[in-house]
Amino acid sequence: MKLPIPKLKKSGLRWADGAVVYQIYPRSFQDSNGDGIGDIPGIISRLDYLKELGVSALWLSPFYPSPMADFGYDVADYHGVDPMFGTLDDFKELLQKAHALDIKIIIDIVPNHSSDEHQWFIESSKSRDNEYSDWYVWKDPLGFEGGFPVPPNNWLDLFAGKSAWEWVEARQQFYLHTFHVRQPDLNWHNPQVRKAMLDMLRYWLEMGVDGFRVDAVPFMGKDPEYRDEPANPHYVNGRDNPYHSLQHIYSGYTDEHYTYLGMMADVLKERAFRGRKRFMITEGYTERIDPVSEYLRYYKSMDPEVAAPFIFEGIQLPWEPHVWHDFLGEFHKTLEEFSPKALASYAFGNHDQWRLVTRIGEERARSAAVLKLTLPGVIFVYYGEELGMHNVEIPKDKVQDPGAAGDIQYGQGRDPERTPMQWSADEHAGFSDGKDTWLPLSPDYKEHNVAGEEAKPNSSLNLYRRLVNLRQSEPTLTHGNFRMHSSKGHPLMAYSRNFGKESMLVLINFSDKPTTYGLSNSGHILVSSLNLPTQPEPVQGTIPLQAHEALVIRIDK
Ligand code: NOJ
Repeated sequence: MKLPIPKLKKSGLRWADGAVVYQIYPRSFQDSNGDGIGDIPGIISRLDYLKELGVSALWLSPFYPSPMADFGYDVADYHGVDPMFGTLDDFKELLQKAHALDIKIIIDIVPNHSSDEHQWFIESSKSRDNEYSDWYVWKDPLGFEGGFPVPPNNWLDLFAGKSAWEWVEARQQFYLHTFHVRQPDLNWHNPQVRKAMLDMLRYWLEMGVDGFRVDAVPFMGKDPEYRDEPANPHYVNGRDNPYHSLQHIYSGYTDEHYTYLGMMADVLKERAFRGRKRFMITEGYTERIDPVSEYLRYYKSMDPEVAAPFIFEGIQLPWEPHVWHDFLGEFHKTLEEFSPKALASYAFGNHDQWRLVTRIGEERARSAAVLKLTLPGVIFVYYGEELGMHNVEIPKDKVQDPGAAGDIQYGQGRDPERTPMQWSADEHAGFSDGKDTWLPLSPDYKEHNVAGEEAKPNSSLNLYRRLVNLRQSEPTLTHGNFRMHSSKGHPLMAYSRNFGKESMLVLINFSDKPTTYGLSNSGHILVSSLNLPTQPEPVQGTIPLQAHEALVIRIDK
């Protein structure tokens, strides 16, 4: 039974305020043509599911033409759709059908690098004096040793942990690739590159997209002197990706990238797009020295009306009350002081990170769902997170991810978190009716799938549906402020969201033992992470919480 919930008027708000964005990794969501790889028509066929889940927007990982050296994050044409995923018309149809259901679409922008098959790079590699010769980061060798050119510095690539420099005979120079050797870094110093990238944003905005997720932003700005990076004293040889043997203070994270992001955000405010609400979220993992100040730098560089950085604490923090207590308390206070427009933007998982359930376990992941869906700002749900999908071990001969090269411990890279969506107990989980799927399915898909979870009242899927629904319909959760209540050292974290006279209290028991919370007024439990009440349950005084339980309580007025 659904709880009666008041309708919220959203006028005046940006679509991202209080929004729930569902991340789709297109290869893995729904295959429509039997080739074992997901595609855009597949996504269209699942829009009803997404509507029922209640999400406000979809973020699509790249679907551009690409040789797929990094599964689409190597873009060969920023203006098209790879035939593997469909056509540009399919994308337009997705936009139109999603909009008809009041679901926004944001797309992935990859500004730091292109594919080596992009026409710009093909031209650029030919000589030092053609139209595109300065579009990428080219450097002379330091010299030659034994006839071999010596790279300009010690920078490493993030995937294999080998030199980030690749030699090109025709130019007698190296090009830089922060990621795969087939992902040459663009030269953002060059005004022509900047113009091409900003025009590309305009192209998609004109088509009607509602915003962007911007990839790998810290690397857009490099040290102008290209200095060697110092050794990382915390690196453990034989355990860590060799990339982490250096401290990356020059190959990225320099002041410049903030300027470039400011320029990108400004495009969303241009006259042509004014009045049509747009939003962009940037991907930059903090160096974790002082995350709150590091995030604040992003807020200061981009107009917070149209942009925010991803807040990755849901991925990076251990599931411990004091760390969450400290971070949330400090972060929201800082953000509020900075600007009423600044929007938090939380992700607890994505296509590069271990799945939430694998990281913290099923019970805690349910409490984390309560936390995530009651936090202020825009929050992200990675496809399958709502089902409690976990990492899947990939047989050695089936590993696809180029990142597996640097995954010294497991040799799996990011494939385990990218396996096909589990729709039903049918063959290939209803993901594909082809012979095989691009990555194997989870062995437990027959027990864990959308159809099965829909039928179970307390399933993870039904918990997500309830929470998403609540977030979308309660003004307190959509745009109420945030106040931390619990004191440090307690296994339980308590915070409230307040809007006008309305107040919602959230209690999260981080411990594997029962605990209690003393409520000074009375209220009604709307959601428990352990079971979903069919009616709001009245409570007052001492509230018992079971191990790992999280509660959402509406405070009586
Ligand atoms: C971050 C993306 O999320 C990841 O999947 C990709 O491999 C790198 N950036 C390079 O584009």
